[in-house]
Amino acid sequence: MDNRLLTPESLKEDSFDNTIRPQTLQEYIGQSENKENLSIFIKAAKMRGEPLDHVLLYGPPGLGKTTLAGIIANELGVNLKTTSGPAIEKSGDLAAVLSSLEEGDVLFIDEIHRIPRFIEEILYSAMEDYTLDIIVGADSSSRSIKIDLPPFTLVGATTRAGDLTSPLRDRFGITCKLNYYNQEELKNIALRTSKVLDCNIDLDAAEELAMRSRGTPRICNRLFRRVRDYALVMGDGKIDLSIARIALDKLRVDRLGLDDTDYHLLKSIIDKFNGGPVGIEAIASSIGEEQSTIEDVYEPYLLQIGLIKRTSRGRVVTEKAYEHLGLPIKNS
Ligand SMILES: Nc1ncnc2c1ncn2[C@@H]1O[C@H](COP(=O)(O)OP(=O)(O)OP(=O)(O)O)[C@@H](O)[C@H]1O
Ligand SMILES: [Mg+2]
Repeated sequence: MDNRLLTPESLKEDSFDNTIRPQTLQEYIGQSENKENLSIFIKAAKMRGEPLDHVLLYGPPGLGKTTLAGIIANELGVNLKTTSGPAIEKSGDLAAVLSSLEEGDVLFIDEIHRIPRFIEEILYSAMEDYTLDIIVGADSSSRSIKIDLPPFTLVGATTRAGDLTSPLRDRFGITCKLNYYNQEELKNIALRTSKVLDCNIDLDAAEELAMRSRGTPRICNRLFRRVRDYALVMGDGKIDLSIARIALDKLRVDRLGLDDTDYHLLKSIIDKFNGGPVGIEAIASSIGEEQSTIEDVYEPYLLQIGLIKRTSRGRVVTEKAYEHLGLPIKNS
């Protein structure tokens, strides 16, 4: 992945993410339906003295899945152990993590769709009966052993719920789909970050940031930090509307949160494919990006704000996109 300013995926510079992560459901902005449900389920689990049901969090990158996993453990008052699909290469890797769990712990598996299928099966009995079923030894001396695990809660996160096998998906009692944040929520995230980073921002400047953040808290926070630099060098450190606008324009983030790559993508559908419909493979090769990157990262937001539409014959650029780009409408 490139170093694109507006990528919702985590960049190195986002390591400050950890310092500004909300720690409680109350501090977590937006996603109100998910929050309400989780808060009830967490309370009930605590009242019963049982572990929380397994939770699947899914949605585009940067919307707060990892943050929410931490909050769940925190609200339950238990330890959080973290691993990820790509880190689990052998069944032993997963067995080691599972056998390190203590009663009630939350095990967070990020990018859970990337666990190899033959290892995934180990999770089934672990999730269902808290037992670890593994095969030890090789060839003729191999045998299967069963180890009891303490009751625990698995929190899985994925950007691609469709890539989960159904046996795995079915073992989650609670499923939360995270949605893009609205302007009001993003404004509140900017205001919260302003407090955490101790950097003042005017209300209208926070709204401007919200507007250009692609519905994504991670991007909102990243833009905040960049704009803060401009405010420090060009002004007195406080972020006002005019500094926010100058900075965001210089950073080449437009008023819908689009950057050069989005423009490139939209224009190539218009110029090379007459506005569509066109298949995702063709778009990918015409702009030199991975198909999966387009599907996970660029397209969801463009669909969300209605600049492209998905039809049975492929992607189509909408009238709104032509208007936004200031181009005459083709192929309506
Ligand atoms: N609801 C929220 N309220 C306030 N800040 C948030 C919220 N959600 C996310 N953030 C901020 O956005 C940043 C990114 O969130 P997080 O890392 O949890 O996203 P993610 O969904 O796990 O992304 P990925 O799919 O890339 O792993 C965090 O630093 C966090 O501070
Ligand atoms: Mg994450």
